[in-house]
Amino acid sequence: MRIDIITVLPELLRSPFEASILKRAIGKGLVEVHFHDLRDYTDHSYKQVDDYQFGGGAGMVLMIEPIDRCISSLKSERLYDEVIYMTPDGETLNQKTANGLSLLKNIIILCGHYKGVDQRVRDSMITKEISIGDYVLSGGELGAAVLCDTIIRLIPGVLNDETSALTDTFQDNLLAPPVYTRPSEYKGMKVPDVLLSGNFPEIERWREEEALKRTENLRPDLLQ
Ligand code: ADE
Repeated sequence: MRIDIITVLPELLRSPFEASILKRAIGKGLVEVHFHDLRDYTDHSYKQVDDYQFGGGAGMVLMIEPIDRCISSLKSERLYDEVIYMTPDGETLNQKTANGLSLLKNIIILCGHYKGVDQRVRDSMITKEISIGDYVLSGGELGAAVLCDTIIRLIPGVLNDETSALTDTFQDNLLAPPVYTRPSEYKGMKVPDVLLSGNFPEIERWREEEALKRTENLRPDLLQ
């Protein structure tokens, strides 16, 4: 998979891709992530990429021209499955969306900033708009990092244990069951006996029940 991220703040985005699972996925060649600084696509003095909004009002708006140039240049190199815009008024990211996106070959992610982008960008170039939650970030970069993390860990071969993404919280619309590790007793707190029993069908049953109980208690909306 190839992900191209368009941003005015590439430095805000780099570090999540330079550590841990994302770094390993890139190192193994399972995903390529490229950053494109919008300022490299403008002829304006001082590399200006934003301007005041027509009609007045506070806040700057990212201009269409540098975005068009950047997206057109990427599209001239290869076909893209989606051109995603990160915005608080997009469709809220969930596991189902991440699963679907992880199957794609090439995607572009455009990070908004300030008041957002000129509406004509959204009307003519964007195929999907994604929010990471009902709150406003200073820009789309942190949202793009979250989106990339959820997608990349689903690509086969990225996680060491191939099955572990399948047992994640949300994969069956259920929260994950509790997990324990050594020691089996700590300050009087014991690990449930069933997990030490070696009876794997019994353990599986226990995990399913606990996942259901936890979902009923904490996120009953997921069961509706
Ligand atoms: N940009 C600003 N706020 C955002 C959010 N909640 N999700 C995605 N991108 C954003």
